[in-house]
Amino acid sequence: MDLKIENLSVKFKDFVAVDGLNLHVKSGELVSLLGPSGCGKSTTIFTIAGIHKAANGSISFNDKVIDNVDPEKRNIGMVFQNYSLYPHMNVFDNIAFPLKLQKKDKQYIKENVLYMANLVKIEELLKRKPSELSGGQQQRVAIARALVKKPEILLLDEPLSNLDAKLRVEMRSEIRRIQKELNITTIFVTHDQEEALSISDKIVILKDGKLQQYDLPNELYKNPKNLFVANFIGNPSINIFDCYISKEKNVLNIFDKNLKLDDFKNIDKISEKVNSYKVGIRPEDFVVNANNKYFDGKIMDRENIGKDSILKVDINGAKVKIVVPYDLLSLETKDISIGIKKDRLLFFDAETGENIKFA
Ligand SMILES: Nc1ncnc2c1ncn2[C@@H]1O[C@H](COP(=O)(O)OP(=O)(O)OP(=O)(O)O)[C@@H](O)[C@H]1O
Ligand SMILES: [Mg+2]
Repeated sequence: MDLKIENLSVKFKDFVAVDGLNLHVKSGELVSLLGPSGCGKSTTIFTIAGIHKAANGSISFNDKVIDNVDPEKRNIGMVFQNYSLYPHMNVFDNIAFPLKLQKKDKQYIKENVLYMANLVKIEELLKRKPSELSGGQQQRVAIARALVKKPEILLLDEPLSNLDAKLRVEMRSEIRRIQKELNITTIFVTHDQEEALSISDKIVILKDGKLQQYDLPNELYKNPKNLFVANFIGNPSINIFDCYISKEKNVLNIFDKNLKLDDFKNIDKISEKVNSYKVGIRPEDFVVNANNKYFDGKIMDRENIGKDSILKVDINGAKVKIVVPYDLLSLETKDISIGIKKDRLLFFDAETGENIKFA
């Protein structure tokens, strides 16, 4: 099912929770809604489900406007953060429940419940009550129950947030597998960027109810449209600094040091409209103790994250995060020379926050 959202706004009294959202999700795609708490993710999917009404704009399924279609007629499967399984029913009856509401016959119900149980790999748990299941198993039951009606759209609102870190990673690839197997159009809400980056075809970044960027996971990382997206995507987060640029003098000044502007590819689009710039440098886009030395740095602190170390480095008074392989430097090393990967720098209009590539 193809999903189109056009100029959608949703209000709670005077408060605008979703503000002029446009979005096209193609049939069979998994799209994540990603953004900080309160940015309008749940409101958006509740409106797709028909639980909230739009103040403005419209939603279409396969080019048919559904704004006046009742929630139960929209043919949507939904899974929430707390699963909301029926505690007094066993797993079989939980999954069967939507089909019983539809008055399907016994044989049909049995076949379909078994098919779903098999798909989400809980065949051996059908007689248990929800309280006798682990978090991950409950979550599989909730997915099976959402899918048993053969919905055309699956809406998942932070379905993994009650699980521990390892199980979350396991379950997210399970969700991806099931979604691909059924080829079902899916909207996945999360505030976890790693989760979104790992399972999505495309990602929507929301802030204050407004769309910031709708793009492929890699593009969000490589070409963030503005400072908000640049800061939000990437862990450890990007370094952002004021910089000075003069085309006439062929100068890019970073950390009080003049570099040759024409060495830097990403800044070919200098506009008269931009008065001041900020530069964004990802922690892995510095080069430590290599040939292209630009700056001297002093290591102030380091944090180990397994295969990498995050160095907190002082460059001319600026505090910079740099990621290096864990075994690059001895623990005693304090003074380092620093270069940068010249084609990776991102430049932003300091006033609007826009990436100058898109300005
Ligand atoms: N029923 C409601 N009445 C009034 N305001 C609401 C209602 N539901 C949501 N809001 C407000 O709308 C904004 C968006 O809420 P929403 O639940 O969509 O955020 P979210 O992105 O899902 O956040 P979270 O990550 O915390 O779940 C918030 O500021 C919230 O307080
Ligand atoms: Mg929410």
